[in-house]
Amino acid sequence: MNVLVTGGLGFIGSHTAVELLDKGHEVIILDNLYNSEIAVKDKIEKITGKKVKVYAEDLLEKSAIEKIFNENKIDEVIHFAGYKAVGESTVKPLMYYHNNLMSTINLLEVMKENNVKKFIFSSSATIYGDPGVSKYVEELGRGKTTNPYGTTKSMIEQILEDLYASDKEWTICLLRYFNPIGAHSTGLLGEKPNGIPNNLMPYILKVAAGELEVLSVFGNDYDTPDGTGVRDYIHVVDLAKGHVSALDKITKSGLYVYNLGSGRGYSVLELVNTFEKVNGVKINYKIAPRRAGDLAEYYADPSKALKELNWKTEKTLEDMCRDAWNFMKKEIK
Ligand code: NAD
Ligand code: UD1
Repeated sequence: MNVLVTGGLGFIGSHTAVELLDKGHEVIILDNLYNSEIAVKDKIEKITGKKVKVYAEDLLEKSAIEKIFNENKIDEVIHFAGYKAVGESTVKPLMYYHNNLMSTINLLEVMKENNVKKFIFSSSATIYGDPGVSKYVEELGRGKTTNPYGTTKSMIEQILEDLYASDKEWTICLLRYFNPIGAHSTGLLGEKPNGIPNNLMPYILKVAAGELEVLSVFGNDYDTPDGTGVRDYIHVVDLAKGHVSALDKITKSGLYVYNLGSGRGYSVLELVNTFEKVNGVKINYKIAPRRAGDLAEYYADPSKALKELNWKTEKTLEDMCRDAWNFMKKEIK
């Protein structure tokens, strides 16, 4: 199949492009380089030995999307492009609503005009809000989101539901990711956070690299086994493979929703300890107050994805820590 991958030079999109190419799909990437580099194109090609077409265009420019659809026969779209920093979204909500919503609407309009009605969307576990349980199953549905970034994800899910209700020819798949970390085993692809990271693994990497002095562990008095927050970390390559499974397995029109997670949670200290053990580096940390808006513990119920997509995570927390550090070491050389 010919797949348009928006945001395909970014963290999850680039890994997905690799898995798609490995499975024999043709990949066309649209990315405005806001949070990525054109060099990623060569890296994808180096890993796969295949060519990928890249358009350095912005989804906010509808004519640019139209041009891509005119120049290529596109069968399906995987939509990763968007802004994703939770903290920044609370400071610049309009920027987040504008980019994430308008780019998605432009894309869907051009798809409709071209009669391309197969769409996979990058959603997030954040859309569950605070459902009062730790194990998130798809049927819980969307809860009250706690930041504008999360609200854009929730709103786009709603837009896609409405679109499907209006036209049952669409095949729409909402993939709700848990916490993606890790990197490609070659060390060529990974996550490159600018400045001071908000998320745990990028912060650990910068402490390991000596760029930051100490990790603040946000709270050790949660009702969890060691008191620190528990999350369902998923290796980015497993996550990428989940997209290929969705693309290959879903052949009938419909609205589909899947959690993509491992089904088990790890605490902050478990992640820190595993990182130290696997990589032989020390992570300085201190216990700090809880971070506002954080939940104690949540993880996916991934059984629907196993049953319907025949997909489950294969990589371990050790793999995630090793691959992330392997990527980071190459970056700081
Ligand atoms: P990323 O920032 O690495 O990749 C997103 C890409 O989209 C970037 O390369 C950026 O340049 C591009 N982009 C942004 N706005 C664009 C626009 N208007 N036009 C064209 N390109 C544009 O992010 P990621 O971690 O790979 O995340 C991919 C998707 O998955 C995002 O939608 C994100 O919200 C979602 N998601 C990510 C996580 C996570 O923890 N990384 C968790 C849940 C969901
Ligand atoms: C957050 C977002 C989620 C987003 C995800 C990845 C919220 C509610 N959720 O998830 O929407 O998809 O990031 O971008 O904002 N921690 C520390 N010290 C740190 C950083 C984190 O102790 O310096 C702890 C947190 O308290 C948490 C765990 O590590 O328990 C994971 O945090 P993080 O990586 O930021 O992800 P989430 O908050 O789960």
